[in-house]
Amino acid sequence: MHRFVYVSTATGPLSAHQIADIAGACHRNNRRAGLTGILVVHQGKFFHILEGDETAIRRRAQKIQDDPRHSTFEVIEAREIQRRAFVDWTFVHEMPERLPLLGTENVATLRDLMPINSPLRGRDLSVRHMVRDFLASFKQLVAA
Ligand SMILES: Cc1cc2nc3c(=O)[nH]c(=O)nc-3n(C[C@H](O)[C@H](O)[C@H](O)COP(=O)(O)O)c2cc1C
Repeated sequence: MHRFVYVSTATGPLSAHQIADIAGACHRNNRRAGLTGILVVHQGKFFHILEGDETAIRRRAQKIQDDPRHSTFEVIEAREIQRRAFVDWTFVHEMPERLPLLGTENVATLRDLMPINSPLRGRDLSVRHMVRDFLASFKQLVAA
C-alpha cells in the first residue's frame, strides 16, 4: 500500500468545465484502480492525496504530472503505508454545486473540510496535519 501527496498550481484560470472534467476523470479512474484519497481545489491550488497500489499510483501520477492544466508540482509525501487514511475517493471544491458535474462524483464542499475534526481529513494523524497545513497556507478560505 502506497501514499502519494502533492500540491500544485493551476497554469491559468480554470473554468467550471475544466474543474468538472478533472473531477470526472478522478471519479472514473480512481475508483476503478482502487485509489482512495482527496483532491482539494481552491484558489488555483491543488492538494492531492492518492492511496493504493504503488503501480496504480505511479501510472496515474505520471499522467497527472504531465497534465498541462497545472505545474509547480511539489511532492509532500511518497511512501509505503500500513493502511489507508481514506475509505473512498472525494473531490473537494468551494462550490461544487456550481460545477457541471455528472452527479455521480463523490464531492464535498470546502466548508465540510474546514472543521478540525472533519472525517473528510482522513483517519491518520499525519494526513490530517497535511490537510490542516494546506488549508492554513491560504490567507483567506473562501467557502460558500
Ligand atoms: C490537479 C489534477 C489532479 C488530477 N487527479 C487525477 C486523478 O486523481 N485521477 C485521474 O484519473 N485523473 C486525474 N487528473 C486528470 C489527469 O491529469 C488526466 O487528464 C486523466 O487521468 C486522463 O484520463 P484518461 O486516462 O481516462 O484519459 C488530474 C488532473 C489535475 C490537473
